[in-house]
Amino acid sequence: SLSASEKAAVLSIVGKIGSQASALGSEALTRLLLSFPQTKTYFTHFDLTPGSADLNTHGGKIINALASAANHLDDLAGNLSSLSDLHAYNLRVDPGNFPLLSHVIQVVLASHFPGDFTPKVQAAFDKFLALVSAVLTSKYR
Ligand code: HEM
Repeated sequence: SLSASEKAAVLSIVGKIGSQASALGSEALTRLLLSFPQTKTYFTHFDLTPGSADLNTHGGKIINALASAANHLDDLAGNLSSLSDLHAYNLRVDPGNFPLLSHVIQVVLASHFPGDFTPKVQAAFDKFLALVSAVLTSKYR
């Protein structure tokens, strides 16, 4: 779990997102699909053109889900329970894809918030994304 200072660091960067959730998430998905093309297999029903409505909408959902989780750090399993069911039982996303998405999200945050996404904040956010990913991949068997 996260220490008090790690929790504060996670909330500090989440607090910068404001109204940019869709743009940030869309860029993260675009980076995911370009750098790791095998991830396209999960999104064959999407328009994968950078900036498409599909990517903006879905990107916003991902970032807003992370923001919600960041505000429930003491009950991540409860906060993410239905998303955990969805990814395990319905989508069956290979767990190996979670570190890839976590990576591109951090690239986006570093690129958009260079002054705020310090090495210390990144270390805390990486730990947070690993905890979220652990919950989302916890029901696979
Ligand atoms: C759906 C969050 C990881 C593939 C969703 C939704 C959210 C979400 C909020 C929408 C659920 C709904 O509409 O009720 C997350 C978070 C992740 C994560 C927070 C990790 C940090 C992944 C990964 C993949 C993936 C690694 C595959 C590479 C999908 C797909 C859908 C989905 C295919 C359904 C899209 C659609 O048809 O609308 N995810 N996700 N997710 N996720 Fe994830």
